[in-house]
Amino acid sequence: MTEVVLPGDANALGTIFGGKLMQWVDIAASVAAMRHCGRPVVTASIDALHFLEPVRVGEVVVIQAQVNESFRTSMEVGVRVEVEDPRQPGQRRYTTKAYLTFVALDEEGRPTPVPPVTPENEEDLRRQHEARARRQARQAMRRGHG
Ligand SMILES: CC(C)(COP(=O)(O)OP(=O)(O)OC[C@H]1O[C@@H](n2cnc3c(N)ncnc32)[C@H](O)[C@@H]1OP(=O)(O)O)[C@@H](O)C(=O)NCCC(=O)NCCS
Repeated sequence: MTEVVLPGDANALGTIFGGKLMQWVDIAASVAAMRHCGRPVVTASIDALHFLEPVRVGEVVVIQAQVNESFRTSMEVGVRVEVEDPRQPGQRRYTTKAYLTFVALDEEGRPTPVPPVTPENEEDLRRQHEARARRQARQAMRRGHG
């Protein structure tokens, strides 16, 4: 997904609101999840988001999302955000990375099983393994919070 940062997306410093970027990340990731399972999905959780670089009005935000792994009814989507200054074509700054979990819903709005992920290369395989480890960490944290 590609977006241009408009003045309405920015704060008084002329840099993007974190919440706006989170919205775009959520939308791009949910589309990847819906394409994978062919169902409506809801965001169950978003892991830590770190904003590594300011993003300015007029810059182009490029958001890439991929389903890393599917579990029973949930999927982990990895998102990478890069930014282009149109005056410096071909150069991209890495701005944000995030992992989101989506749950597929049936007609009654209940969680419903999703298809498996089939890795197509070494990178996909690495992401799948890392997603499994993150799920374990997530579940341990949720149990801890009771
Ligand atoms: C996400 C939601 C559907 C889960 O419902 P639930 O009754 O807890 O369902 P279950 O306990 O059967 O869990 C379903 C799946 O969600 C996962 N899940 C639930 N809460 C989660 C969380 N906080 N983080 C990650 N995964 C979560 C479970 O691990 C399970 O995955 P699995 O089937 O792959 O093992 C429910 O909590 C919900 O509707 N939340 C609101 C979602 C929403 O409105 N999002 C918009 C943002 S405000």
